[in-house]
Amino acid sequence: MNPAKLNTNIQGLRGEIAVPGDKSISHRSIMFGAIAKGKTNITNFLLGEDCLSTIACFRKLGVRIEQEEHQVTVSGRGLEGLQEPADILDVGNSGTTIRLLMGILAGRPFHSVLVGDQSIGKRPMTRVTKPLSIFGAEISGRNNGEYTPLSVQGGQLEGITYELPVASAQVKSSLLFAGMQASGETVIIEPVKTRDHTERMIRQFGGEIQTDGRTIRIHGGQSLTGTDIHVPGDISSAAFFLVAGAIVPGSEIRLKNVGLNPTRTGIIDVMHRMGAEIIVEPYENGSSEPAGDITIKTSALKGAVIEGDLIPRLIDEIPVIALLATQAEGDTVIKDAEELKVKETNRIDTVVNELSKLGANIVATEDGMIVKGKSSLSGGHVSSHGDHRIGMMLAIASAISSGEVHLDQKEAISVSYPSFFEHLESLIK
Ligand code: S3P
Repeated sequence: MNPAKLNTNIQGLRGEIAVPGDKSISHRSIMFGAIAKGKTNITNFLLGEDCLSTIACFRKLGVRIEQEEHQVTVSGRGLEGLQEPADILDVGNSGTTIRLLMGILAGRPFHSVLVGDQSIGKRPMTRVTKPLSIFGAEISGRNNGEYTPLSVQGGQLEGITYELPVASAQVKSSLLFAGMQASGETVIIEPVKTRDHTERMIRQFGGEIQTDGRTIRIHGGQSLTGTDIHVPGDISSAAFFLVAGAIVPGSEIRLKNVGLNPTRTGIIDVMHRMGAEIIVEPYENGSSEPAGDITIKTSALKGAVIEGDLIPRLIDEIPVIALLATQAEGDTVIKDAEELKVKETNRIDTVVNELSKLGANIVATEDGMIVKGKSSLSGGHVSSHGDHRIGMMLAIASAISSGEVHLDQKEAISVSYPSFFEHLESLIK
């Protein structure tokens, strides 16, 4: 489907879709399955390119992984079952793969080399290489360990106490993987609570971990056991249709089986605050990752201030929240979000530049952006800049634009949502 044609004659977006499996949970299910003993059966696995990179890396580490459609079986042989890779480990576009994998490799007595695509080559790695070195791993890389290619020589680790300088679930998770292999206890203190899929999964695989507010404790020498995992739909993918449903006139969309982990539901809180008609119906299934259905209708919206502890709970949704804000009355101010600068692209710049091209009234600030609404969007020539979430946000923007929108590099969308255009098309009335 060509998104340039999207904006002609849309009478609304109506119907029901099940967004694909959660990216963060899919990555972790492979990683934990690989280091646990026994079989892990995963259903509703996300077949996005990022998660396929994780599978490819663990296969190179000697782990048997069978994948048929969205069903994956990992035959783990424990941490000791991982083997020195004969080839480089290529993480593609995936920050989660490289950062979490380094935490696992830090404790393995062998050498590995990690590379990724152009975007990965610009993303900061000292945030993990530095604390992993304090654990005792030998890691080097371009620019003093800041950028790929990175080389990891793992070995015996000693537990550390570490206060994270940035709110990052990737860094926290990497250090938890190292802590599980280190002698003694590891204590991690987060500046702000971030997504807790790793902590939940450690428990699901029979491991032990204590959390007390922003402090997390884990002890080394743990052995995990394979288990069954059903991956809920990704709320970060659902976000595009939540916003689409709210801003495209004449819409009502029901999103089935969306993950509702409270460390990820900031978008729902913000949309409620902005006046969106959004109904959440949680399932009562006692699963370690809560899920439910969400219904959204075209809504009259007002601006909001989005800042502080809320930011990590919606960090990946900020590009599409910026689009939402263009259709809200008044100002929307996004603060404390400087982490956006080190995502797949500098998302302060890419969001502001691309939405400006469509006529949005939006300016960048040091730690976020200010959007003045409500403005009508025109057509134009825009690009994802190779960033999946920018591509999807612009495709949704085209559904409310008065002229044609030409979107370059839309193939980036398959990183997290290969069926995005199919789903969008199925809703168009
Ligand atoms: C992720 C954590 C977040 C998020 C990314 C996935 C994870 O990154 O932006 O898409 O799975 O742990 P940071 O940890 O860099 O904030």
